[in-house]
Amino acid sequence: MSAICVIGTGYVGLVTGVCFADMGNTVHCLDINQERIINLQKGIMPIYEPGLEELVERNVAANRLFFTTDYSEALHNAEFAFIAVGTPSGVDGEADLSYVRDAAEKIAEVIDHPIIIVNKSTVPVGTGDWVADIIRKKRGKNTLEYYVVSNPEFLREGSAIHDFMQPDRVVLGSVHQKAAEAVAALYQPLRAPTLITDLRTAEMIKYASNAFLATRISFINEIANICDELGADVREVAQGMGLDKRIGHAFLDAGLGWGGSCFPKDVKALAHMAVLHGTHPQLLQAVMDINRNQRRRVVMKLRNLVGGSLVDKTIGILGLSFKPNTDDIREAPALEIIHLLRNEGGHVRAYDPQAMENTSKAIPELQLCTNPYEVAQDADGLILVTEWNEFKQLDFKRIYSIMRTPVLIDGRNQWDSQAMRKLGFTYFGIGQGNHVQAAE
Ligand SMILES: NC(=O)c1ccc[n+]([C@@H]2O[C@H](COP(=O)([O-])OP(=O)(O)OC[C@H]3O[C@@H](n4cnc5c(N)ncnc54)[C@H](O)[C@@H]3O)[C@@H](O)[C@H]2O)c1
Repeated sequence: MSAICVIGTGYVGLVTGVCFADMGNTVHCLDINQERIINLQKGIMPIYEPGLEELVERNVAANRLFFTTDYSEALHNAEFAFIAVGTPSGVDGEADLSYVRDAAEKIAEVIDHPIIIVNKSTVPVGTGDWVADIIRKKRGKNTLEYYVVSNPEFLREGSAIHDFMQPDRVVLGSVHQKAAEAVAALYQPLRAPTLITDLRTAEMIKYASNAFLATRISFINEIANICDELGADVREVAQGMGLDKRIGHAFLDAGLGWGGSCFPKDVKALAHMAVLHGTHPQLLQAVMDINRNQRRRVVMKLRNLVGGSLVDKTIGILGLSFKPNTDDIREAPALEIIHLLRNEGGHVRAYDPQAMENTSKAIPELQLCTNPYEVAQDADGLILVTEWNEFKQLDFKRIYSIMRTPVLIDGRNQWDSQAMRKLGFTYFGIGQGNHVQAAE
């Protein structure tokens, strides 16, 4: 059993804290957001994540999990301080490290015993050394025994607890082998393959992994767009490709592209790092361009299907979160699509099972509906943006009867194109050979 402090109670920090507590450790979760901490103390979750609330409740009741805004309280006796604060995009695409800096400075101010500082935030290569420098400078002559370990996180929102508890791998990087091994021991109950490497390599593994996954999605989206023109079906192309063990099936679903709190900022930050150091990241640039175009393409398609103009057309959006099973709308495709539709004079309304509260903060004037049928009522087009389960088997007869113009854009290839066309819809999926099939 260890004493752990986790700094930041977002998707990563809160999940990390509660999972380590559940393994028997004593965990203090800390945040500078007072409202968040007060709510957590009352059992109110700041995010939607399946299974999280029950796990928090159980570990608070067992006296293993505590929430505070006080660094001294959180770090008192802590053997490990996990930094899990946000690292959003800065103005030029670089990672904004101001929250990491604040956390490191605070640790340096209050700590009075040896500590291992574990960086879980996704940070540019070299940040581990930078954090060590911040602490050294801040302490001055009042030296401290501390070690910095990079421990990038690979969990996915929507299945975060499962991913944390059953990770494909644990990656640790440090110049101090013993410190890395001490962190590895925390994860030992999970029996996951563990890679111990140097700080910079560990930091790069995270960026390279996210960039690779984003590349797969952009790749299949590019293939989808070619399929549309040539009359092939990308869903079967992906299936055929994925059966090759060297390729596999994951991240080969054509759609509206990637979004969320990680891929966009991480690909951008990696490209920024590359340019800063004199290399030309042309693949990463293309991956980002394809992703941007995917959203524009769908709006262009809809415009064509409703008669060449979106002015005064009513468009319904199904799904706002960047993917199902989360309320996270950071860089969600829906936001950009809504923006593009409105720019062209369309009236947009939307529904999402979990992300409406966050969306109403981001776009207060957006018309939000209580269910998919309200979205479809008198609409000229309906776009499926996020493939929540509840959108998979809608009452399409009803939807057909209440839409003004029955145009469906299936942005995630979830619906049966033949069945939809049989019902009378004008249906457009992604990469289903639509152009050629429509012409035939
Ligand atoms: N969300 C994901 O799916 C995911 C997955 C893997 C890695 N990551 C990485 O993990 C990091 C955290 O991501 P997130 O999505 O959990 O962020 P988040 O925005 O959900 O949460 C960050 C939290 O940190 C708090 N915070 C900021 N500065 C602080 C400080 N100085 N002291 C204490 N708390 C502070 C904020 O108030 C907020 O509650 C990022 O670097 C991200 O790239 C995220």
